[in-house]
Amino acid sequence: MCGIIGYIGEKEVKPLLIEGLKRLEYRGYDSSGICVKNNSGLSIVKNVGKVEKLEKDARLSSIKGKVGIAHTRWATHGEPSELNAHPHYDCKNELAVVHNGIIENYVPLKKMLEKEGHKFKSQTDSEVIAHLLEKFYRGNLAEALLKVLPLLQGTYGLAVISKKNEEIVIAKKGSPLVLGIGNNKMLFASDQTALINYVPNIAYLNDNEIAILKENSFEIRNSNGKIIKPKIEALKLDAEDIEKNGFEHYMLKEIFEQPKSIKRALSGRLNKDGVKLSIDINLKKINRIVLLGCGTSWHSALIGKYLIEDLTNIPVEVDYASEFRYRTNPLKSSDLVIALSQSGETADTLAAIKKAKESKAKTIGLVNAVGSSIARECQSVIYLQAGPEIGVASTKAFTSQVTTLLLLALYIRKEKGMKLDKKLLKEILTLPKKVFSSLQTENKIKELADKFKDNKNFIFLGKGVNFPIALEGALKLKEISYIHAEGYPSAEMKHGPIALVDENMHCLFICTHDHTYDKVLSNIEEVKARKGKIIVITDKADDKLTSKADEIIYVPHIDPILAPLINIIPLQLFAYHVANMKGLDVDKPRNLAKSVTVE
Ligand code: AGP
Repeated sequence: MCGIIGYIGEKEVKPLLIEGLKRLEYRGYDSSGICVKNNSGLSIVKNVGKVEKLEKDARLSSIKGKVGIAHTRWATHGEPSELNAHPHYDCKNELAVVHNGIIENYVPLKKMLEKEGHKFKSQTDSEVIAHLLEKFYRGNLAEALLKVLPLLQGTYGLAVISKKNEEIVIAKKGSPLVLGIGNNKMLFASDQTALINYVPNIAYLNDNEIAILKENSFEIRNSNGKIIKPKIEALKLDAEDIEKNGFEHYMLKEIFEQPKSIKRALSGRLNKDGVKLSIDINLKKINRIVLLGCGTSWHSALIGKYLIEDLTNIPVEVDYASEFRYRTNPLKSSDLVIALSQSGETADTLAAIKKAKESKAKTIGLVNAVGSSIARECQSVIYLQAGPEIGVASTKAFTSQVTTLLLLALYIRKEKGMKLDKKLLKEILTLPKKVFSSLQTENKIKELADKFKDNKNFIFLGKGVNFPIALEGALKLKEISYIHAEGYPSAEMKHGPIALVDENMHCLFICTHDHTYDKVLSNIEEVKARKGKIIVITDKADDKLTSKADEIIYVPHIDPILAPLINIIPLQLFAYHVANMKGLDVDKPRNLAKSVTVE
C-alpha cells in the first residue's frame, strides 16, 4: 500500500506535501517524492527511504509552486530506489503521476508503449500511466485520463498533473481516495488523516470516478464523463488523533489508549440493560456465520468464534480472507459473512467480501477506517470507533474488534430472543478499568524485555479463547522485533513443537483461571520437564504456578470470555519494549505497511 496526497491553492505547496506524506507514511515508507508545478514547468524530487530524507533533500529548496502531488511508497514492482520512487514523468517531463495500487496488465502496456517509442526509466507498473497519458494528451488532462483508465486492469488511487493545466485530476478504482474541500484550496489524499487541519469538509470518491481539482472548485465525473454530485461530509478527526501526545511512538500511545478506545467501542451501544447496534439486516434467521480477516484481524475473528458460539449457539467458521476468496464456499441467505478490518482497504478482505456478496449471504463489516472500501462494500458496517491507528502493528484496533464482536454476539443473542446475562453486562462495563490495570504491568514487562531481547525464538501458548491471544502475541513480537515467534494451542506442544524445547527455548503461557486452567498447568509441566524456560501470564497467585514458572506476570481477573482483552496487554507491551530496546523502528517495521492493498 502507498500513500498519495496533492494540493492546488493559494499557498506554497511544498511544506503541506511533506507534512501530508509524514501522516501517510504508515501506509508505506520504502521511498517518497513530490512533483510541483510552476510557471517554468514541473519539478520532481524523490528519495529512497523515509520522508524525513526527502524533507532534508537540498534540491527541494529550489522548488516553488502552488500545485503539487506527492507519494510515499511500499514497493510492489521494482525494488525501493530513486528511479522507482513516484512521481513518474512521461517522456517529455510535461506530465506526472502518483499511483497507489497495482496495474496488473502493465507488461503488455509497457511493451506497446515502448514499440511506439516511449522511453521508460523505472521498473514499476505505475510508470505506464504517465506514458499512456502522454499518448492521449491533447491539452485536456481529464479527457486524456478518461481515455487511459479503461486500458488499466487492476487497482488505482492516482493523481496526474501537467505543466500546461492549472488543475489536478485524480481517479479511483479499488484503492482509497478522499477529496479535501477548502476555501481557495482543494486537496486529495489516500486517507483523511492527511487532510486534518487543512480542510473542513471531505468527499470520498467511488470506484470508476475521477475528480478535477482547481483552486476554487472541483468536479467529479463517472467513467462516462457524467458529472456526479458527491456526498460532502465534515472532516471529524482532529490533530490530537494523529499526534503522539508525548509518547515516544504511536504504537505505545495506541497501547495506552485502549481503556479509552474500548470505552468508545462500547459507548452508546451497551448499558446494564442491554445492547444497541444499528444493523439494517434481519439477523433473526441467521444460522451460520463466517468470520473473515487477515493477520491480527484474523486473530480477532478466532476470538469472535468463541464469543459468538458461546453467546448465541450459532456455528461460526473462521477463514483467512486470502483463502476464502478462492474457496468454493457454499453460502446461503441464512448465512452471515463478517469482514474484520482496521484499515478497511486490505485487498484480500475486500475481494473476499465481494465474493460473499455474489451469494445470497448477508455481509457486515467491522471496520475502523470510516468510509473505507470494505465499509462501503458490506451491506452493513459497525465502526470500531478506535480512532486512527498509525502504528503498523495493530493494538487498539484489535481490542476494539474483539469488543465489537462481543457486542455483535450479544446483539444476535437478543435478536434470537435469548436472555442477556446481566452479570456479564456489568462485567463488560468494567473492561476499561481492568485494561488500565493490565497496563500497570509495564515495569515488569520492561524487565523481561531487557532480559529476553536477544532471544532468537519464542513460543506463545494458550488454550480456548486464549489460543488466539498466543497467536497475536507472537505476531506482535515477530513483526516489530524480528524475533522468530510462534503461537500454538498449548496442548499442541505434544504433537511436535515440544521437540524445539530445551534450556534455550522460552515458552510464554497464557494461564488465566477458566475451565482449561489445570490442562494448561500440565502443558507447563511438560515443558518444565524438558528444561524449557517458562514465562506465565496469570490472574491469581497459585503455588502450582510459582513452583514451575521462571517469570510470572499478574493481570486482573475477569470473566473468562472477556480475558483476551486483558491478557493481550502485557504481550503488546512486551513486543513494543523488546523492539524499542533493540533500537528498531517500532512504528514502521521493515518490509511492512499498515494496510496491504495488494494481493
Ligand atoms: C497487524 O499488527 C498487522 N499490521 C497486520 O497483520 C494487519 O492486521 C493485517 O494486514 C490486516 O489489516 P486490516 O485489519 O487493516 O485489514
